[in-house]
Amino acid sequence: STRVRTRDLIAAKERGEKWAMLTSYDQYTAALFDEIGIPALLIGDSAANNVYGYETTLPISVEELLPLVAAVARSTTRTLVVADLPFGSYEASTEQALATAVRFMKAGAHAVKLEGGRRVAAQIAALTGAGVPVMGHVGFTPQSEHVFGGYRVQGRAEQGEEVRLDAHAVAEAGAFAVVLEMVMSDVAARVTKELDIPTIGIGAGAETDAQVLVWQDMAGMRRGKAPRFVKRYADVATVIEDAARKYAEEVRDGVFPAPEHGFH
Ligand code: KIV
Ligand code: NA
Repeated sequence: STRVRTRDLIAAKERGEKWAMLTSYDQYTAALFDEIGIPALLIGDSAANNVYGYETTLPISVEELLPLVAAVARSTTRTLVVADLPFGSYEASTEQALATAVRFMKAGAHAVKLEGGRRVAAQIAALTGAGVPVMGHVGFTPQSEHVFGGYRVQGRAEQGEEVRLDAHAVAEAGAFAVVLEMVMSDVAARVTKELDIPTIGIGAGAETDAQVLVWQDMAGMRRGKAPRFVKRYADVATVIEDAARKYAEEVRDGVFPAPEHGFH
């Protein structure tokens, strides 16, 4: 079977078909999500929190994210593999953005994602022109949390116009899709109607063309208070915890390994 292409995602919008994106950072989740037909997988810089244990997405480096992109690319045959560009790896210039994007494409990505609207339009145009499909990301952008002053919904009242202008700038620069994060639902709905490229919402209501969630949030691998936009579809943390507890208990009790686990 063949890979999903960026044009397939645009065609899905034309047909009015909604789809779901997930993050993935490793072989097993990548293969599972690929198998069930998730059309695009994002190796998010959220690996900072969800793989590397950082507090925010700011510290993760290109060197830390690259091997995860390569792992997901190697472990899938159908999904479109989208690599997030880390904070500090694309903002300075079109040259910097292209140099970074090329590293991710050589590692196996089929597209890259970067944060920002009007301020990164030149980077999006340069990458697209050089053969790198770009997914935009506007609204609340976590790499800029210190400018936003925390995790705050975007697009309230007259601020909605700022989100619209950013989304339009991203589309006009050549992006094939755009993530709308923590955007007021009415603004996200309007942007979705106005743009020809798919909008992918996270905390942006039900009217976007697609949705995205971090897999550990979706599957309940991550514990603790989740943001309002997360829905937990399973309690994977408890499944693994119970398995590990049982294993440790059986070792202590001399139940594992049994004769059949050994070589006699
Ligand atoms: O890094 C990430 O996981 C993301 C998605 C939540 C859009 O950027
Ligand atoms: Na991200």
